Amino acid sequence: MDLCIIGSGYVGLVSGACFAEVGHRVICVDNDIKKVKSLQAGHIPIYEPGLEDLVHRNVAAKRLRFTDSIEDGVDNSQVIFIAVPTPPQPDGSVDLSYIEKVAREIAGVLKPDAYRVVVDKSTVPVKTGEKVTDTIKRYNKGAAFDVVSNPEFLREGCAVDDLMKPDRIVIGSNSDQATALMKKVYEPFMAPVLVTDINSAELIKHAANSFLALKISYINAVSAICDASGADVEMVATGIGTDKRIGRNFLNAGLGYGGSCFPKDIAAFIHIADELGVPFTLLKEVQRINADQRTRFLNRVRKALWVLRDKRIAVWGLTFKPDTDDIRSSVAIDIVNDFIKEGAVVTAYDPKGMERARELKLIEGAKLVDSAMEAVEGAELLVLATEWPEFANADLAEVKSKMHTPMVFDGRNLFDPKTMTEMGFTYHSIGRPS
Ligand code: UDX
Repeated sequence: MDLCIIGSGYVGLVSGACFAEVGHRVICVDNDIKKVKSLQAGHIPIYEPGLEDLVHRNVAAKRLRFTDSIEDGVDNSQVIFIAVPTPPQPDGSVDLSYIEKVAREIAGVLKPDAYRVVVDKSTVPVKTGEKVTDTIKRYNKGAAFDVVSNPEFLREGCAVDDLMKPDRIVIGSNSDQATALMKKVYEPFMAPVLVTDINSAELIKHAANSFLALKISYINAVSAICDASGADVEMVATGIGTDKRIGRNFLNAGLGYGGSCFPKDIAAFIHIADELGVPFTLLKEVQRINADQRTRFLNRVRKALWVLRDKRIAVWGLTFKPDTDDIRSSVAIDIVNDFIKEGAVVTAYDPKGMERARELKLIEGAKLVDSAMEAVEGAELLVLATEWPEFANADLAEVKSKMHTPMVFDGRNLFDPKTMTEMGFTYHSIGRPS
């Protein structure tokens, strides 16, 4: 099939490459001409395992191309996916202006005799599909089109895998013609397809992410009780997670969730629920527990070091989770800034996040170094903020020899408490006995 994806960010670019990989002809449209030129030159703007090969292979096979022209994309595609950003606003609501602008632009180039399916792939509040439909109709009275909601569930760091082998495909559609075309798009992926109305599909995305965040906050709240009582949160998580109805995934206690999706989507879900007159107060508690997890961690560091001013603290990990270069809404970045605010001397290292950290200038007070070992040189405390495999495999004896005092605060429960203590570290983690 001929497909067009508007917006070449995480979701748009990975989706485009994966659609091409299964045999569709894909046009990726972006209004950032610099980005389009760089993609045309073979440069991939984000780090995502497997993506670079996928893009190069499909460009070479002439199944994938990049343009800044919406008209080119819409004219030459049966199905048009919208994958533009939906950033948060200070009150928690979603800024839908990019979606609205793209809807107007699509309306401007739709032809009356060429039926098109316009698919919303960006994460949006319930009832956005209705607004996209109204907007296109208002700006193009004769257009033949249907709007579909097709939320994306990919995780950064394993986006290609998630897209190629999805658990399910959700198609929110109020038109049989559009549903049939969407089923054809996804046929090669051989995944279960759930067809719903548009509003339900939009809700599924917010409800899924909120539920996962709730699981994380739940186990983090349990971790606080473990810390207070001497129990072990990992054993509790395994004990409850082996119940199939609960499941062990997303029960890893730590510094809390971050990233470009969970914080934004939970805030947006709370906001739209308020707007609809059915406040979702449970999710406010999820947010509170998440924030509290970082505060409790900081308090424990303060207790251990007494005064943070002038203390040399090494931080391992800046990205919001491993296997990504994304540092947006990263708890690791927040922790570094907390330390800097209190006058600590912070040296930080991340396997993939350094470039973004320099570029986005989110932690200007910290010294960024080129290796994990350089970071711990002379440090009075090592804080593990992101659980990269590189850190799990680090030579801990060397770490200990390089540190001024061998104290470790493990914010992601990466290391084994017994090993760390036996090696002579003063070791603290989350919800596990020291
Ligand atoms: C998430 C959803 O998983 C995905 O389906 C959706 O499309 C986008 O949002 P992502 O933001 O890439 O994906 O990351 P995810 O792996 O879900 O992790 C989110 C955050 O939760 C990270 O900060 C991670 O460290 C944290 N987390 C995750 C925990 O603290 N504990 C866990 O057990 C799992």
